[in-house]
Amino acid sequence: MLKCKNQGGTAELICFVPFGTGHLFFALSDRHIYERMIFLKEKLEAIRQLAEQKLLDTSSRQELEDLRVQILGKKGELTAILKQMGSLSPEERPIMGQKANEVRAFIEGKIAERQAELKAKESELKLANETIDVTLPGEKHPLGHKHPLSIVLDEVKDIFIGMGFQIATGPEVEWDYYNFEALNLPPDHPARDTQDTFYITEKMLLRTQTSPVQIRVMEKQQPPIRIIAPGRVYRSDAVDATHSPFFHQIEGLVVDEGITMGDLKGNLMQFAKRLYGEQTQIRLRPHHFPFTEPSCEMDVTCFKCGGKGCPMCKGEGWVEILGGGMVHPKVLKNGGIDPEKYSGYAFGVGLERLTMFRFNIDDMRLLYENDMRFLGQF
Ligand code: DAH
Repeated sequence: MLKCKNQGGTAELICFVPFGTGHLFFALSDRHIYERMIFLKEKLEAIRQLAEQKLLDTSSRQELEDLRVQILGKKGELTAILKQMGSLSPEERPIMGQKANEVRAFIEGKIAERQAELKAKESELKLANETIDVTLPGEKHPLGHKHPLSIVLDEVKDIFIGMGFQIATGPEVEWDYYNFEALNLPPDHPARDTQDTFYITEKMLLRTQTSPVQIRVMEKQQPPIRIIAPGRVYRSDAVDATHSPFFHQIEGLVVDEGITMGDLKGNLMQFAKRLYGEQTQIRLRPHHFPFTEPSCEMDVTCFKCGGKGCPMCKGEGWVEILGGGMVHPKVLKNGGIDPEKYSGYAFGVGLERLTMFRFNIDDMRLLYENDMRFLGQF
């Protein structure tokens, strides 16, 4: 804060100039004022020139900002000069004010110019760093595809859906009742020995076959029934070229009035021809399963030699692909279906076996190892 008082005559100014916390009291003559003006003008000019030069030395926008604060900021050099304006006479003050404003406008203009230059430089540099060579070859991402088991399962589904079948499913953790008992395998039945499995409790296990889905479907639905039930099954088998503790089966069940072994033969022949080719022949051999009566196994002509005999079919010309038969009356009854009125056929087929024959794979383990060199061939 500056207070001045004109005492006339000698035109002396008595001023209080703020200084630190107190006030300095002194008097200035006209000559002094003139000298002070010259001094301030020169100082302003010096600031202008120095600023212009320093601006050129800045190499980043941050440096530029620092410089701006140093000159124009609250505690800046130019601001310090402006604060001294009060020591001038009312006549001189506007002249100096104008000069100071000119210098400020000049410096501000130069800062803006430099800022634009630096900004352009920075983005040029950024662009140079980010240059993309569009002529470089692109990165190749290998395309995935269905696993061979899925390929064959989808084909099997298509074939049966085309014949009017529906897809059914059941749980992998199953009751002993559905997996064995309801399928005519009471607790002491010797056929249980070939299907040892993993028990969750005494009454709950990992299913050994997809056949329990037959009972689950019959419990919910009266004939006509035409379903296939694909799914994973478990057995306590050690791993080798033809065994695994888990694998996949596809169950089939048809129940209606007047279903005979002729339906089984006709439908399964169509299935074999669609899957392995028109030239494929089938052969039914008598067999035993507790849940079908009569039961059979079905062979197809060896797809490698066409029936002549080769190492694949061990010289027989035939390979076995599934088991089936007419649904046992007890099983129909357990499913809540009247065996006097209805009859049905059922079959169960191993998906791994179908797939191995289909693609000529000689070791089942290849299907589970996820070796890309193997899977890439399908
Ligand atoms: N569940 C039998 C197995 O795992 C396969 C089978 C045979 C299923 C005959 C059937 C059938 O539905 O009728 O060995």
